[in-house]
Amino acid sequence: MMPNMSSAEVIGMKDTAAPLASGLEGVVVAETRLSEVDGERGRLTLAGHDVEELAGDGEVTFEDVCGLLWGGALPSAAEREALRGAIAEGRVRAFALLDRLGDALAARDGMDALRAAVAHLGGGAPAAIAGAIATFAAAWSRRAAGEAPVAPDPALRLSADYLRMARGAAASEAEARELDTYLVTVSDHGMNASTFAARVVTSTGSDAISAVVAAIGALKGPLHGGAPGPVLDMLDAIGEAAGEGGAPPAGGAERWIQAELAAGRRIMGMGHRIYRVRDPRAAVLERAIERLARTAGGVRGARLALARAVERAAEAALRARHPDRPLRANVEFYTAVLLDALGLPRSLFSPTFAVGRVAGWCAHIDEQRRVGRLIRPSSRYIGGVRPRVDTPQGGLI
Ligand code: COA
Repeated sequence: MMPNMSSAEVIGMKDTAAPLASGLEGVVVAETRLSEVDGERGRLTLAGHDVEELAGDGEVTFEDVCGLLWGGALPSAAEREALRGAIAEGRVRAFALLDRLGDALAARDGMDALRAAVAHLGGGAPAAIAGAIATFAAAWSRRAAGEAPVAPDPALRLSADYLRMARGAAASEAEARELDTYLVTVSDHGMNASTFAARVVTSTGSDAISAVVAAIGALKGPLHGGAPGPVLDMLDAIGEAAGEGGAPPAGGAERWIQAELAAGRRIMGMGHRIYRVRDPRAAVLERAIERLARTAGGVRGARLALARAVERAAEAALRARHPDRPLRANVEFYTAVLLDALGLPRSLFSPTFAVGRVAGWCAHIDEQRRVGRLIRPSSRYIGGVRPRVDTPQGGLI
C-alpha cells in the first residue's frame, strides 16, 4: 500500500489490456545491420558472416571484427593496420591515465574496477575506448595480484598485447590467435542486455562513455557476462576428486549438479534466452580449446574432457527437470575453459568479455545515434489510486 493512504482511499488497480513482457522477450526495439541471433537453428550472423566462418580458425583478429562492425566490411590490409594502430594508441593513452584513476583499480571486483576506470575517460572514438578497456582490465588484474601493471606494446595487435599485459609474459602466436577467436566470437550478439543498456543511454542523447559504463554494469551480472568464473568453480569442484589430468569420478558430475538444482541454484553456463539449441559459440570456442590442447596438450586436454562430461551431465539433468525448455550449453561454458587455458585468472573472465563486446557496444551506440529516438517503454501501475471526481469547472475534488 502507498504511504499515507488508508485502505478506504485505495479504490483499485488500473486495468490495462497491454500484455506484460517483463523480460521483453519477442519485443523488437531496433533494426540493426550488426548481428542476428537465430535461436531455433543455432545460427549467429555477424554483419553478414556466420560466426563459424569469422572465428573458425583464429585468422580473423579483434581489429578485423572492429572494422567489420564499425565500418560494415572486413578491413583491407591497410585499414586493418590503421585500426591496429588506433586501438594500440588507445591502450597507450589509457596506460598514461592509470595514475589519475583514483581508487578505481583498487576495487575487489574487476567489473567494478572497469566501470569506474572507463568513467574517467573524457570521451573518445571507438578505437580509443576499445584500447582503454583492454589496458584497464589487464592493469586491474595485475594490481589485484600484487604486481605492477605492464605497459602496452603498441607494435602488437590487441589480443597478443592483452595477454602480455595481463600475464606479464609474452603470448605465443597460437595463444594470441585463440584469444582473437574468443574476442571475435563475443564481439556482438543481437539485443543482449548490455547492448540494450548502451542503446537506452544513447537514445537519451547521452555520450558514448556513459553508454559503455552502463553496458559494463549490465554485463557484470551472473545472468549475462558474470557466468564464466562460476563455471570454472563448478569444473574445479567436480574435478577435484579426480586430481589434475584425471577424469571426473563416475557420477560425480551428476551428484554435484543435482545438489545445486535441489538447492535452487542455476547451473552456470547452461541455458539461454534466445537459443533453443546449443549456442553455436560454444562449439567455436570448444574447437579453439582443442587447437590449443594440440599445441600444449596435457592439462588443457584433460580440462576439456572434464568440461564435456560436465556439460553432458548438466544437459541431462536440466532436460529431466525442464522437458519442454531446452537448456543447453551457452557461450560462457567454454569461455571458462578457453580463458583458463590461455592463462587468465578467473577474476578476469568477465572483464575479458567486455574487451571483446566493446566492439559491438560501440557499433550499436553509433547505430542508435542514427535512429535518434528516445527508448522509453511503458510500465503497468499496480499500486493504489485515490478516488477522483471531476467538477463541472474542470477542477478536482
Ligand atoms: N540452470 C537451472 N535452471 C535453469 C537454468 C540453468 N542454467 N536456466 C534456466 N533455468 C530454468 C529456470 O529456473 C526456469 O525454471 P522455472 O520455469 O521452473 O522457473 C526455466 O528454466 C526458464 O528460465 P528463465 O529464467 O525463464 O530463462 P531466461 O530466458 O530468463 O534465462 C538465462 C536465460 C541465460 C538467464 C538462464 O538460462 C540462466 O540463468 N543461465 C545461467 C547463467 C548463465 O549461464 N548466463 C550466461 C548467459 S550467456
